[in-house]
Amino acid sequence: MKAVLLDGFGGIEVLKVGEAARPVPAEGQVLVKVVATSINRPDLVQREGKYPPPPGDSEILGLEVSGTIEDLGPGVSGWQVGDRVMSLVGGGGYAEYAVAYASHLMRIPESMSFEEAACVCESYITAFLNVFMIGGLKDGNTTILHGGGGGVNTAALQLCKALVPATKMIVTAHPSKMERVKGLGADLVIDYTQTPDFSEVVKEFTGKKGVDVILDHVGAKYLAPNMNSLGYAGRLVIIGVISGIKAELNLALMMVKRQQIIGSVLRSRPVKDKGEIVAEFTRTALPKFADRTIVPIIEKVFTLDQVVDAHRMMEEDKHFGKIVLKIS
Ligand SMILES: NC(=O)c1ccc[n+]([C@@H]2O[C@H](COP(=O)([O-])OP(=O)(O)OC[C@H]3O[C@@H](n4cnc5c(N)ncnc54)[C@H](OP(=O)(O)O)[C@@H]3O)[C@@H](O)[C@H]2O)c1
Repeated sequence: MKAVLLDGFGGIEVLKVGEAARPVPAEGQVLVKVVATSINRPDLVQREGKYPPPPGDSEILGLEVSGTIEDLGPGVSGWQVGDRVMSLVGGGGYAEYAVAYASHLMRIPESMSFEEAACVCESYITAFLNVFMIGGLKDGNTTILHGGGGGVNTAALQLCKALVPATKMIVTAHPSKMERVKGLGADLVIDYTQTPDFSEVVKEFTGKKGVDVILDHVGAKYLAPNMNSLGYAGRLVIIGVISGIKAELNLALMMVKRQQIIGSVLRSRPVKDKGEIVAEFTRTALPKFADRTIVPIIEKVFTLDQVVDAHRMMEEDKHFGKIVLKIS
């Protein structure tokens, strides 16, 4: 099968389109004929050699797929060859065929295209898991969502708007993307290039109360402003560390305010855990995609042969929402 391969680790120049062996579905898995996948920031980190796939998963890049079921592995029931599906995969999305666990599959609603479906699993499930299942955001709460135009962040904004509409959303964003972030329903947008310490603005906006949940992928640089922005019993959920991994923490303040810091990764979770997360997402969030309350935001669709351009676009932070890679 045709697939994107890595010629060593490094910049976009290591991405090569070539031939790889078609995977065989194991117990509980299906073979998906991939129509589309999307680019996620962790793919760039894996390409650089800093984010290896979990043991047993494909070395090929790609954390999600949309397509049709081509074959069923042993022990799979409830699915048929030809079904339109989207799924999280531990790796292998940038290829004509990928294996996925049957428990991680979601049926693509009739109203949704394969390109849109290719955007749902990694970004929206990451946002859903961390903002709601782990962060415990409730309607009427206040939240900070960092990284205005990113895939996970735009997903978080759309999910909050659809599922907890009375929630106040504070978003940090690049100035070029602030207007569009506002258009997605953010109540306050902060220019992160001008205001690296956003805590004073947050205090003013919340009447000194602070926020209930923060979704953060910036890491070290934002630890202090995040903790200063968090209210009593607030939860800081860290899903990335783009600015560094070490920072100082005021433990006394954290203790007195009963705050929690929670680290979270989706990819390396056990298969069963991911199945439970997918089931909860299917029950709670998927109906909002089916009725088009939530429509994935696609910046651009590239073909498999244009994978270098797709990675370049993300590397240069030129996108708003998702970048799709059309496979077939
Ligand atoms: N733990 C997990 O399970 C998990 C799963 C998926 C992704 N992630 C992590 O989540 C992050 C986002 O992934 P993605 O696929 O959505 O990538 P993405 O589309 O490239 O989004 C990243 C965004 O980060 C924003 N950003 C850059 N510097 C910032 C700063 N100083 N303050 C606030 N925002 C800043 C940019 O926002 P603007 O657009 O406004 O410039 C950019 O769009 C990555 O760090 C990724 O590794 C974690």
